[in-house]
Order: sequence, then C-alpha cells, then structure tokens
Amino acid sequence: MTHAHITSWLITILLFLIVVSLQRSGSAKVKIAQMVLRLFYIFTIITGLLLLHSIASISILYIVKTIAGLWVIGAMEMVLVNMKKGKSAKAAWIQWIIAFALALFLGLSLPLGFDIF
Ligand code: HEM
Repeated sequence: MTHAHITSWLITILLFLIVVSLQRSGSAKVKIAQMVLRLFYIFTIITGLLLLHSIASISILYIVKTIAGLWVIGAMEMVLVNMKKGKSAKAAWIQWIIAFALALFLGLSLPLGFDIF
C-alpha cells in the first residue's frame, strides 16, 4: 500500500504543476487536467487512510502526518483558486511548500515503507 500511496501523491504533485502551467498559459485543457487532479486527491486520501487503517497502534505523529497530507491538498486548491481569481497566490505557495516538506519528512521518518530520516 505504501507504493500505491507514493505513486498516487507523486502523480498528484506532477498534475498540480501541469495544471499551474496550463492555467498560466490560459489553455482550455486546464479544466480536464484539474478534474484528473481532483481524482488523484481522492486516490491519495484513500491510500493514506488505508495505510492509517493498517497500523495497529497509531501515535500522534501519524495524526500529524495525516493533517500535513491533507494540508498539502488544501494548499494546492488554494493556489489554483487564487490564480483563477487573479489574486496573489504567494501565501498559498508558502503553505504548500511547508506542508509538502512536513508530509515528506514525517512520511519518510515513520516506520512503514521507506524509513529514511
Ligand atoms: C500530497 C500529499 C501527501 C504526500 C506528499 C505524502 C507523502 C508520504 C510519504 C513520503 C510517505 C512515506 C512512504 C514510505 O515511507 O514508503 C507517506 C506515508 C503515509 N501517508 Fe502520506 N502523503 C500525502 C497525503 C496523505 C494523506 C492525505 C494521508 C491520510 C489521509 C496520508 C497518510 C499517510 C500514512 C498513514 C502513511 C504511513 C506512514 C509511515 O510511513 O509509517 N498521506 N506519505
């Protein structure tokens, strides 16, 4: 399941960057790309919840990891909404970077799958 989760969030991040560049160039393909992106949010959340479900004793770090993962998704939506409205997306980008770094660090330091940190 960790591999499904990693594949899913990697595709989510890639799609997010693609949607951002399509939005910047004003392409009509942005709508369909954003629909696929939202589908991958769901895959990422489901695989994350299944990972959580597979753990016998959940420590507080898992809860923080889950919140960080959901925060990454929330920040991506904030970036896209602000860009669409023509507002500054700077605050949303900063949140995205912090949340992504936190989710990566916690995910990789928790024991399942790769245990790098
Ligand atoms: C785009 C957002 C996300 C990123 C970048 C991310 C990143 C990661 C990474 C790098 C791992 C470690 C995988 C491994 O060691 O093999 C992981 C594991 C995990 N993720 Fe996520 N994740 C995200 C979203 C979520 C969400 C939304 C949830 C919950 C609903 C979640 C729950 C988990 C759980 C429970 C683990 C297992 C922790 C462990 O290694 O012991 N993640 N995630």
